[in-house]
Amino acid sequence: MTKELGVGIIGCGNISTTYFSLSPLFKGLKVLACADINAQAAKQRAEEYGVVAQTIEELLANDEIDVVVNLTIPDAHYPVSKAALEAGKHVYSEKPLVLSLEQGEELRRIAKEKGLAVGCAPDTFLGGAHQLARKFVDDGGIGRITSGACYVMGPGMEMWHPNPDFFFLPGGGPILDMGPYYIANLINLVGPVKRVAGLTSKASETRTITSQPRNGEIIPVKTPTTIQALLEFVSGATITLTASWDVWSHRHANMELYGTDGSLYVPDPNFFGGVVEASGRDKDIKALEAWDHPFGKFNQESPNGPRANYRTAGLADMAMALIEGRDARCSLDRTLHGVDIMTSILKSGAEGRFVDLTTTCTQPAALGIEEAQALLK
Ligand SMILES: NC(=O)c1ccc[n+]([C@@H]2O[C@H](COP(=O)([O-])OP(=O)(O)OC[C@H]3O[C@@H](n4cnc5c(N)ncnc54)[C@H](O)[C@@H]3O)[C@@H](O)[C@H]2O)c1
Repeated sequence: MTKELGVGIIGCGNISTTYFSLSPLFKGLKVLACADINAQAAKQRAEEYGVVAQTIEELLANDEIDVVVNLTIPDAHYPVSKAALEAGKHVYSEKPLVLSLEQGEELRRIAKEKGLAVGCAPDTFLGGAHQLARKFVDDGGIGRITSGACYVMGPGMEMWHPNPDFFFLPGGGPILDMGPYYIANLINLVGPVKRVAGLTSKASETRTITSQPRNGEIIPVKTPTTIQALLEFVSGATITLTASWDVWSHRHANMELYGTDGSLYVPDPNFFGGVVEASGRDKDIKALEAWDHPFGKFNQESPNGPRANYRTAGLADMAMALIEGRDARCSLDRTLHGVDIMTSILKSGAEGRFVDLTTTCTQPAALGIEEAQALLK
């Protein structure tokens, strides 16, 4: 197999700039073309990043493209990924992979039939902080993980996003939008989930947009905006996850894991970096000694100060996995298990019962310093 895969990006919106600008850091990838349902958006990105703008049909027929990166909106993930697989391309998608287990199983069927790979973000669990947490857990730092608590809560999206409608419609909501970061990280640290329960609610039937240009417009809320979930892992650990857009402020940490010998405090799973803290049985909470992990190094400025951003690491890992013939960390099995977890939580909330998961997966291989370095040019 070739040492570099040709990449075509479909979906040239907000997050595409991150993929265009960060993919040159990595081995095994060369972005060659882009497309969008809005031809002007593709043209603009093509000019900015020196690639070819094509129609979606042209890109799917382009022999130089091995992998289609699907950066469209969640509702378009399934049809775009399906079309790419049918055109004989590997697929790497932004989260969520799909909006239902059935859609994901169909992608799995086509990929298997054609011998193609499907991968999906989030890849933030490959960050220096989360891999430090992983190493600490693997080394027995807190003993066996028995329980934990995760919180991702805020007031919503209508105060910053110009077109926030989709966040409040089926397929949106805080669990499908933000849940993937937490669930991918829990799979990384604890492994697969056996069954879930959820209580779901919404604070109001409508929201008033306060961002521009639609300030004052009232939009309907047709999906739960507060989800309180219980996750029982195959390992026996039981962990709570609360995702809400009905909370103005709170004092909960992002992710705390409790083990037989101590507790672990994991920074925001939406980012690659952060400080990992832990205590032993002495209850003395201290920061773990930082390590020189390539995906923890600051490489960007942000409104909150310098930060580590290595989005596309999951895509690079998939490309190298294809080249080397090994398992990709952000694999279809793991992200579809994540979709199963999230949609089963919503189902539990609607039906008032525990839901057993029908999918499972293995923990991804840890990504230590050397493995991460090997992904970089
Ligand atoms: N914006 C972020 O910071 C961010 C961060 C992480 C993940 N994501 C995920 O990335 C994806 C895209 O988010 P975004 O913020 O870039 O959205 P966006 O709305 O800014 O861009 C999406 C682009 O996809 C195009 N598109 C829509 N349907 C299409 C179709 N059927 N075929 C081709 N193109 C189509 C749109 O024209 C648009 O240019 C989402 O799944 C989101 O959850 C976004």
